[in-house]
Amino acid sequence: MQASRELVVEPVGLDVDALPKPLIWKDLFGNDHSVELEIGMGKGTFLADQARARPDTNFLGIEYARWFWRYASDRLRRNHCLNARTVRAEAGFFVREFITDASLAAVHIYFPDPWPKKRHHKRRLIQAPFAAEINRILLPGGKVQIVTDHADYFQQIEQVLRDSSLKPIDYSRAPSAGEGEVVGTNFERKYRREGRPFFAIAAIKVS
Ligand SMILES: C[S@@+](CC[C@H](N)C(=O)[O-])C[C@H]1O[C@@H](n2cnc3c(N)ncnc32)[C@H](O)[C@@H]1O
Repeated sequence: MQASRELVVEPVGLDVDALPKPLIWKDLFGNDHSVELEIGMGKGTFLADQARARPDTNFLGIEYARWFWRYASDRLRRNHCLNARTVRAEAGFFVREFITDASLAAVHIYFPDPWPKKRHHKRRLIQAPFAAEINRILLPGGKVQIVTDHADYFQQIEQVLRDSSLKPIDYSRAPSAGEGEVVGTNFERKYRREGRPFFAIAAIKVS
């Protein structure tokens, strides 16, 4: 039997209990580069691709599943992505408590948990109060990009964005996405093999 490899989180993975509130990006990354946030990065495929391709942009990934957070942090560390940091936290809490107004160039949310049962819909992340938080933390002109495979959740997301202060724009594929891919995350690759459809949406903050 193959022994499981140790996942090393430092120096990319941050301890949420040791972080100052609010977070000052310049202090965290040691530079003035713009910052993009990914919520629920899973194994960190998108984050690692982006951090490698765009060394002059800083990336923060939030993930609340301990194993995924450790896996993504280890992957970023092994790929020398020192323009990336990760934190293990619930995204709604983290955004509210730690992120200052008008401080992010982009927010990425790929394959958010759809909570398909009606009685669980209230657990969905993308609801009106969260859209207001996204609008608060984005810089003017900053954008949010969301992809899901779940038609019902997509309808809700469309409605939430339409009712928010954000302005719809065309979704743009990340250059790191493979041929025929919408964004190029682990879940997209898994769901593509299952033949699922994908729905993508984007919006910007107007000044
Ligand atoms: C379906 S997976 C998608 C992972 C990755 N984005 C991808 O496309 O491969 C959703 C991920 O979001 C994380 N997640 C869901 N809700 C979250 C929340 N409120 N705060 C932080 N992470 C969350 C889950 O733990 C899971 O890893």
